[in-house]
Amino acid sequence: MRFHVVTIFPDFFGSILEHGLLKRALAAGEIEIRIHDLREFTDDPHRTVDDRPFGGGPGMVFKPEPIFRAVEQIRADSADPSWPVILLSPQGRLLTQAVAEELARHRGLILICGRYEGVDERVATHLTSDELSIGDYVLSGGELAAAVVMECVTRLVPGVLGNEESAQQDSFGEGQAILDCPHYTRPAEFRGLKVPEVLLSGNHREISRWRRRQSLEKTWRRRPELLAGLSLTAEERAMLEEMERARVTPAPR
Ligand code: ADE
Repeated sequence: MRFHVVTIFPDFFGSILEHGLLKRALAAGEIEIRIHDLREFTDDPHRTVDDRPFGGGPGMVFKPEPIFRAVEQIRADSADPSWPVILLSPQGRLLTQAVAEELARHRGLILICGRYEGVDERVATHLTSDELSIGDYVLSGGELAAAVVMECVTRLVPGVLGNEESAQQDSFGEGQAILDCPHYTRPAEFRGLKVPEVLLSGNHREISRWRRRQSLEKTWRRRPELLAGLSLTAEERAMLEEMERARVTPAPR
């Protein structure tokens, strides 16, 4: 998987490439990341990337020419011109695990980090194949969002995760979206706070039942809209009915 990132802050990506999963995947050659400075694709002495919005209003808008040039150059240099060109912006479709799985099927992605009040709309209509948002909140630029996309897609690249940390076990994996169960480690008692007995029991059937129930209950309380998309076993449906019957009011947490 090769990521191309177009940004006005190329140095932003230094530290995320030097830590954890991305560092490991880069070192192993499982992914490649190329950062492109948008200002390199300007043609004026001031290296201008933005301008005032037509129609008036506050802030500045990214000009189309440098972004088009950057993407055309990347395409000309890369083997495959069919790689998705993705604009990161709060107007995009929401990044979910299912979207990450879809992106991970490609051999490369071109990520364009937006900035300021916006990006000239001709970039979205005539250059990019997709526009992605990482959530319903506004960041001042797409750099953090591009980092999020690279991290969650890299986890899905075959070979990046060892068997033990397989993405198959992710709670949002394989079309299943359910919140993860609680996890505990030693000590078994900390400041009077005890680890649930069942986890110390060694009874693996009971442990996995407890975990599934905890996942369901957390999802039911915090993200009930996710439950509709789950394929549940009869036992899990019974667990949910029991929660409903117990009339535990979903807490706003
Ligand atoms: N740029 C600014 N806000 C963003 C968001 N929520 N997602 C992706 N890119 C963004």
